[in-house]
Amino acid sequence: MEELELKSTIYACQIDELTAEERHLVELAIEATGRSYAPYSKFHVGAAVRLDNGAEIIGCNQENAAYPSGLCAERTALFSAGAQYPDVAVNTLAIAARGTDGELLEEPVAPCGSCRQVIIESETRAKHPIRILLYGRKRIFIIDGIRKLMPITFSEFQ
Ligand code: THU
Repeated sequence: MEELELKSTIYACQIDELTAEERHLVELAIEATGRSYAPYSKFHVGAAVRLDNGAEIIGCNQENAAYPSGLCAERTALFSAGAQYPDVAVNTLAIAARGTDGELLEEPVAPCGSCRQVIIESETRAKHPIRILLYGRKRIFIIDGIRKLMPITFSEFQ
């Protein structure tokens, strides 16, 4: 049996190490947490995507009394981008969240597995990795392409 080691490198930085465009996208994601509809979990997530044509689209989690009918912030943003600009690649995705105490999370928020799967599809569709910025008050993670978080993917079938 062969042991395979899966390794991936991501970066941790402070907000002032981001480019002005990236910082702006993170600010949009933070702002979007304020629009989240999360009466059940009280966990408010915001996302913002920047497309290759410069368009910026936000999303936030939308919950529902029938719990599984709700949707995460990341997918809200990505599906909206797909609806508005079906032929434009997503360049960068920023995510931020406020915990049940209303404060922005100290550590970077991580996208759930279903959102990672949708991010893979956006990358595959555009043949373009997405730069992912996960905001935390203490530090921000920069991830160049979702495959860094999900190295073995289901992305195409015949
Ligand atoms: N949530 C997101 O919006 N994004 C994630 O990646 C993780 C979870 C939302 C879904 C639900 O509304 C709330 O956070 C608690 O799970």
